[in-house]
Amino acid sequence: MRVAMIGTGYVGLVSGACFADFGHVVTCVDKDATKIEKLKAGIMPIYEPGLDSLVAKNVEEERLFFTTDAKDAIKDADAVFIAVGTPSRRGDGHADLSYVYAAAEEIAQLMDGFTVVVTKSTVPVGTGDEVEEIIRKARPDGDFAVVSNPEFLREGAAIKDFKIPDRVVVGTEDERARNVMKELYRPLFLNETPILFTARRTSELIKYAANAFLAVKITFINEMADLCEKVGANVQEVSRGIGLDGRIGKKFLNAGPGYGGSCFPKDTLALTKTANDYNSPVRIVDTVVEVNAARKKAMAGKIIDAMGGDVAGKKIGVLGLAFKQNTDDMRDAPSLDIIPALQAAGATVQAYDPEAMDEASHLLSDVTFTKSAYEAVQDADAMVIITEWDQFRALDLDRIKGALNSNIVVDLRNIYAADDMAARGFHYFSIGRPSV
Ligand code: UDX
Repeated sequence: MRVAMIGTGYVGLVSGACFADFGHVVTCVDKDATKIEKLKAGIMPIYEPGLDSLVAKNVEEERLFFTTDAKDAIKDADAVFIAVGTPSRRGDGHADLSYVYAAAEEIAQLMDGFTVVVTKSTVPVGTGDEVEEIIRKARPDGDFAVVSNPEFLREGAAIKDFKIPDRVVVGTEDERARNVMKELYRPLFLNETPILFTARRTSELIKYAANAFLAVKITFINEMADLCEKVGANVQEVSRGIGLDGRIGKKFLNAGPGYGGSCFPKDTLALTKTANDYNSPVRIVDTVVEVNAARKKAMAGKIIDAMGGDVAGKKIGVLGLAFKQNTDDMRDAPSLDIIPALQAAGATVQAYDPEAMDEASHLLSDVTFTKSAYEAVQDADAMVIITEWDQFRALDLDRIKGALNSNIVVDLRNIYAADDMAARGFHYFSIGRPSV
């Protein structure tokens, strides 16, 4: 199959590279000429484990191409994927669909022969209808079908999530489009991955419902963590105790500083907006949005309390800035709420992140970025872990102790065992577990 991928952001690039690896011929199109030049030279615009070698291999084997010129890519394509951004619109929180609609206009002008137009971007229910209308208006005679095919890729595990997914969701009632989609995902079909064919609007809602449900799960355990701290219980054991019930499931029950990233904050908000528009509010999700935002802000207070209630003139060593491990993505990262609040309380911050410091340097001011975790805690009055990078789990804790000015560790990701930290002489604070 020949595929055109419009948008080489996170989703477009990973999906394009993976479809090429499935054996299809994929052309990734982006208006950003610098990005395309870099991709041609093998330089990835994002950090994603395994992506550079996957791209290199498929470029070399001539199945993956990059261009700024949509013309040939769309004309020759069996399927054109729209994988452009749908950021939260300033002011009202609705998803901004201008890039999606612009892509639809462009496809309408350039498509040739039966073309399946696939929306991969996360779009509100009904967007597929709008895309269809835009194309139909521009090309009344056009032979095309518009399909919804949401992605469920986690940053840091995106290639695995694409190639070994729990399921693929395809929303279309068009028989020919269904066959094209079957062909595109054939390797998964052979692996018996469930492929759910459904109506377009249902498919669009599945994406939001999945993300919102996971956000609810995280927020639920975060509130349980707060309660655990009050009643002297251990949230990790609560997670295990409830997660072993197959109806609840073990995953996404790690308490932390609140969810961030490019999807959960944006998609939960957009879902609440859509629900309100249809006069069918999703009150649980409304609450989750509010509780999560408040939680990220409250984390600075937790750190300040651990440091004795006053951080004026104190130095804090922060480990981890990205919204989670294995990514350089800083979008809605808890560190963006926590660090400015610590600075406002008079503290200075030295920080280290294995991948996100470049990105973070544009978003945070007056932070000293260091070359290692050890440098970040040098002469600091506390060590604070915000992101759970694996390399922070295996630190030389004696060296950390020697570098710190105190023995205070605040671990917002529960990556250490409390009794071990106590035995090493740390005053250790974590999430939803007794402090030692
Ligand atoms: C998410 C979805 O998982 C993915 O299916 C969707 O397509 C895009 O959004 P991503 O944002 O990359 O993926 O990260 P994910 O691993 O889901 O984590 C989201 C946030 O929740 C992070 O801030 C993470 O730290 C937090 N989280 C996750 C927790 O706090 N606890 C958990 O148990 C799991």
